Amino acid sequence: MNQSVHKFRTAIVFSTMLLLPVATNAMEPPADYLQYCSGCHGKNGMGDGPLAANMKDKPADLTAITHFYKGKFPTKVIRQAISGTATDRTIAQFHGPVDMPVWGKVFRDQDGDFIAARRIDALVDYLKSIQK
Ligand code: HEC
Repeated sequence: MNQSVHKFRTAIVFSTMLLLPVATNAMEPPADYLQYCSGCHGKNGMGDGPLAANMKDKPADLTAITHFYKGKFPTKVIRQAISGTATDRTIAQFHGPVDMPVWGKVFRDQDGDFIAARRIDALVDYLKSIQK
């Protein structure tokens, strides 16, 4: 990694620390989060992205998942909710019906199954890190 890239990354890490005072162990959001999720769920995952104001069903507060699931972050459920691979309608309906998955399909079409799974893992790990 050359020095200017390193400096840039350091700046991102520091500014992210300033932006995320709520969750103490919060990770730096993956690029996919900023590009595909923050518009609705907000920069800090609290459901207050710029698109949220005009939505009928408000985006979930992604920092409250653990709270909602009574203290245990439901890794598998969340991975399935993001990838659209859930067979359970109640899980898959977050971003579309079972036969119309959203992010999993977008990522698989861009990058193939293997990389798509890694990108979803990174998003799940990030969400796990921002729980309040
Ligand atoms: C177009 C707006 C929009 C975008 C973009 C979006 N979401 Fe969502 N998301 C929603 C809405 C609306 C819900 C449903 C809220 C509910 O049912 O509680 C939701 C629900 C979720 C849930 C379930 C939360 C829970 O409490 O169980 C997860 C996890 C989630 N989104 C992750 C993501 C991730 C990761 C991305 C980016 C890859 C993303 N979302 C992009 C609108 C969006």
